[in-house]
Amino acid sequence: MKKLLFATLLLAACGGGESAPAPKAEAPKAPEGEAAKVDGKAIYDQYCVSCHQADGTGMGGKMAPDFTQDKARLAKADADLEKSVKDGMTGDIGTMPPWGSTLKDDQIKAVVGYMKATFGK
Ligand code: HEC
Repeated sequence: MKKLLFATLLLAACGGGESAPAPKAEAPKAPEGEAAKVDGKAIYDQYCVSCHQADGTGMGGKMAPDFTQDKARLAKADADLEKSVKDGMTGDIGTMPPWGSTLKDDQIKAVVGYMKATFGK
């Protein structure tokens, strides 16, 4: 009984947390909100990895370009790559769906930047 009372008091003290200051340190690096830094890798892991694969080889170029072999791909201008991602593209390998309605421009920029830095070397 005493324990329950204590718990209730504790709840009363901490509850209604609306006005309590949120702990800043453990904020997740989710790519949400305008102010948050956009995490290109997180976007890649969520939306792109199924075809392009974690190593950027696109299953040996069967599902998507093998960026580790086909260097010309990621050597294209950022604006061109961002347009391909935004509007989708169909080529010899297959079709990439358009991402413009799923991802915002700054997210597309971030994920293309991540791909260039990771696979385009
Ligand atoms: C359904 C499979 C699939 C998914 C999911 C996918 N892609 Fe693609 N992607 C492709 C294919 C296929 C191509 C190449 C099309 C071709 O040239 O035949 C491609 C090409 C590309 C290119 C090269 C564009 C160019 O201009 O040559 C980039 C950059 C790219 N994808 C980025 C992304 C990003 C970023 C995501 C996640 C937001 C993503 N892809 C998700 C299949 C996919």
